[in-house]
Amino acid sequence: MSNNLRESEAKAVLKSLESSYCPEPIKEARERQDQILIERFQGHPYVIADIGCGTGYHASIFAPACLLYHGFELSPHIAKIAQERWHKEGLKNAELFLGDATQAEPQESFYDLVFCLYFTPGNFREPSTDLSLYTDAYLDQNPSFTAVFSKFYRALKLGGLMFLTIYKDVPEAEEAQIDFYEHTDQHVVTPRGLRFVATAENFWSARWTQESLFSNLQVCGVPENAVTFHDLNHIAWLVEIRK
Ligand SMILES: C[S@@+](CC[C@H](N)C(=O)[O-])C[C@H]1O[C@@H](n2cnc3c(N)ncnc32)[C@H](O)[C@@H]1O
Repeated sequence: MSNNLRESEAKAVLKSLESSYCPEPIKEARERQDQILIERFQGHPYVIADIGCGTGYHASIFAPACLLYHGFELSPHIAKIAQERWHKEGLKNAELFLGDATQAEPQESFYDLVFCLYFTPGNFREPSTDLSLYTDAYLDQNPSFTAVFSKFYRALKLGGLMFLTIYKDVPEAEEAQIDFYEHTDQHVVTPRGLRFVATAENFWSARWTQESLFSNLQVCGVPENAVTFHDLNHIAWLVEIRK
């Protein structure tokens, strides 16, 4: 994907992350995601990876007590915002790995926790402006998703946990996605009814069935019985994977 497309995508992401507007079901899902993770993991000395860490706000929550917080982020501009934030907060154990997470080389059996939050698992895809690439078959075995989660599943310690926040493939989730993107200056270019929404600004976000997640995770070596779906609300799951 050209740098221009990546930059346009990053601008769109940043606008949505910084927008005061957020559709109620998305806001509620995010709050519940954080509530669950905070109750279980805040204040403990874990080694944590955050894939697609964005502007770094989860490090602000977990890094003060954790051993290491590794944020993986594609956009140089967004990564810089995260680094400045961590510097300002004196978080010396938070480190930023800039680049595409499909190319990351995390150490094997290193992390206690791997986070991929706020619908980021649905953003991984092979770069293309040709939206016909993203068929249901593609979404059921998305090479970018499986590249990322194969590596990070290997990078989990035995007994470690991975958390993924994903949209359910229901019309209410699609409505919320469209509402969010259109209220943050984007232009939706996909017809309703596909399992992803794309915008002219090159943002791309998939929704999931449990079967499509299982079929992707199988490629990553994750057995079905390692996976628990926590209902965040009618549009979202927080998926827990135990190694
Ligand atoms: C929806 S935002 C979520 C940010 C953050 N996790 C949060 O909860 O606020 C997704 C983030 O993942 C990043 N991202 C998308 N694709 C990526 C990739 N292939 N590798 C690394 N980061 C990526 C985006 O730049 C963006 O900052």
